[in-house]
Amino acid sequence: MRNKVSIIGAGMTGSTTAHWLADKEIADLVLVDIVEGMPQGKALDLQEALPVVGKDVRITGSNEFEATAGSDIIVITAGLARKPGMSRDDLLSANADIVRNATQETIRYSPNAIFIVLTNPLDVMAYLTLKVAGVPSNRVVGQAGVLDSARMRAFVSLELGISVENIHCYVLGGHGDEMVPLTRASNVAGIPLDEMLPAERLEAIVERTRKGGGEIVSLLKTGSAYYAPAAAIAQMVDAILKDRHMILPAAAYLNGEYGLKDIFFGVPTQLGRDGVEKIHEYSLNNEEMAALQKSAAGVAENIAKLKL
Ligand code: 2OP
Repeated sequence: MRNKVSIIGAGMTGSTTAHWLADKEIADLVLVDIVEGMPQGKALDLQEALPVVGKDVRITGSNEFEATAGSDIIVITAGLARKPGMSRDDLLSANADIVRNATQETIRYSPNAIFIVLTNPLDVMAYLTLKVAGVPSNRVVGQAGVLDSARMRAFVSLELGISVENIHCYVLGGHGDEMVPLTRASNVAGIPLDEMLPAERLEAIVERTRKGGGEIVSLLKTGSAYYAPAAAIAQMVDAILKDRHMILPAAAYLNGEYGLKDIFFGVPTQLGRDGVEKIHEYSLNNEEMAALQKSAAGVAENIAKLKL
């Protein structure tokens, strides 16, 4: 049977996710949005592109959640995006209503689906999805770490003039300005990052990574990034549908790992056909652990605001 992936929210991120996924040719796709005609139009436009690129998948657009029935994966991108001057946390109450509704409606039609959440504030929305869906925690994962790590990899690659494929960076923690770029575990073809870059350049890259989402928001002015977030989701979908047992930085539900409980948080997450198969733990030094605790405190504070 063919895989089915439904993307809730057909705005820039949702439709770009469909674009990357269609190119991977791993699932039929459904785009759902409340705006009449928009998901249908984008789906049809993408469908009409596929003969050119030689991909055989079916792409459907709908305003009804019923179209998502029987999905293997539900991707939730619906919600407001940041505008200049806003933090991701400013979106909490408006996006909580949207994510709650999207989860309730999709779990009805796809009781066995795995959820990938992208809506901000990401860690909190992934927590909300888990609680509303009432599924085991392996079936909900948040996209943030692949994106944050990709930003760091891009900056290192541009700085050194070395292929992105040689650059391995790992960003942990909440998807906010307190995220934790783990420079000690990052490397260029196995050479530690701090041997490749002078300390002040490395620090500048760490800072730029932390503020990477805001940098795009202040350039675009009307919304937030979508190419890189969407590419990150596509990689996670690929890891799950192909049962790759791939370790990617992502927001997973923690039950004691890294000393944290009852929280979604960015950690090295092994993804396969069952969703989150395993959470891997770095042995962190005191400084790294303190940075993670600071980031976790911010996420926990926002989870409390949900009053679940
Ligand atoms: C970002 O970091 C949208 O949160 C997303 O660009």
